[in-house]
Amino acid sequence: DEILLAERILEVLPQEVREIASDMLGKEIFEDVGQSVQFKIAGAQEMFVEVTCSPIPDNDKKKTAGIVVVAKDITQYKQIENLKSQFVSMVSHELKAPVAATIGFLDIMNNPKMNLSEEQRTDFLTRSTSRLKSLLTMVNDLLDISRIELNTVKREIVKLDPASLLAESIQMMEFEAKKKNITIHFSKGEATFTIEADKLEIERVMTNLLSNSIKYNREGGEVFVTLQKKGPYVLFEIRDTGIGMKPEEKERLFSEFFRAKNEMTKGIHGTGLGLSIVKKTIDWYAGKIETDSEYGKGTTFRVFLPEKAAKE
Ligand SMILES: Nc1ncnc2c1ncn2[C@@H]1O[C@H](COP(=O)(O)OP(=O)(O)O)[C@@H](O)[C@H]1O
Ligand SMILES: [Mg+2]
Repeated sequence: DEILLAERILEVLPQEVREIASDMLGKEIFEDVGQSVQFKIAGAQEMFVEVTCSPIPDNDKKKTAGIVVVAKDITQYKQIENLKSQFVSMVSHELKAPVAATIGFLDIMNNPKMNLSEEQRTDFLTRSTSRLKSLLTMVNDLLDISRIELNTVKREIVKLDPASLLAESIQMMEFEAKKKNITIHFSKGEATFTIEADKLEIERVMTNLLSNSIKYNREGGEVFVTLQKKGPYVLFEIRDTGIGMKPEEKERLFSEFFRAKNEMTKGIHGTGLGLSIVKKTIDWYAGKIETDSEYGKGTTFRVFLPEKAAKE
């Protein structure tokens, strides 16, 4: 592979590198300065290469005797750089919208010429509070994501009963469910299991999935929650009779800020961070998550968590 790579690089690079090289060799005096060039190589897979030419002095350090050419595959670095810029631009946009809206409301309220009624004032204040609340949620989610990625999450790993955790999480969501007339069914079976994990973290996984199963459900819909043992894992499944997802939406589900935009998700608010936290958490516990979904019919999430904590 490496030889192939070297050959391919030589094939693609010559003109530019040769120019640099002959420039260096042509110098009458030795200058200790290397030069780098970055290339994109188009092919079946796009690749980025950085080539550095460094001069080697002759014995009395007067002339350039030769050149060392080092080629480095920087494809991965470029991809990470790209992701970072995308991420920064998305975050800035998500931060800007609610701040701009709130400033707009405050400006109007602060303007005596507007002559606002008490009712209008209350309305603007309510809307500002709501925008800022969802901004705070987003910032908290981002902090959670970065704690997971930087590995600075403080966990208290203890033996937990997933059945009672699920029951608690369902109870926390009942209020939201009632608003849309949704019934949550929970069958936990006879057996009792334990998992070793941090309570808050597992609860967050469960409430995120349950909240989605209600949010992306229809009026009068249903949610089915089951719990069972599967090999070394405890498996809990959350199935809803909601709006479902298109295959291309399902694929991007766990990316930060991803939210499906189609006729059915219109008017449903969110940050697109919940599932990315879910995925990162499950990964940390060396578990897995599976998704089945049919557009217009419903979605199933299956979460496998190891009974025994693998790490730490
Ligand atoms: N149960 C579900 N049914 C249909 N679509 C879902 C479901 N759960 C998640 N999604 C889709 O995945 C997207 C990302 O979910 P999530 O990360 O929780 O962010 P949010 O709920 O804030 O939009 C949602 O916007 C929605 O399009
Ligand atoms: Mg969500």
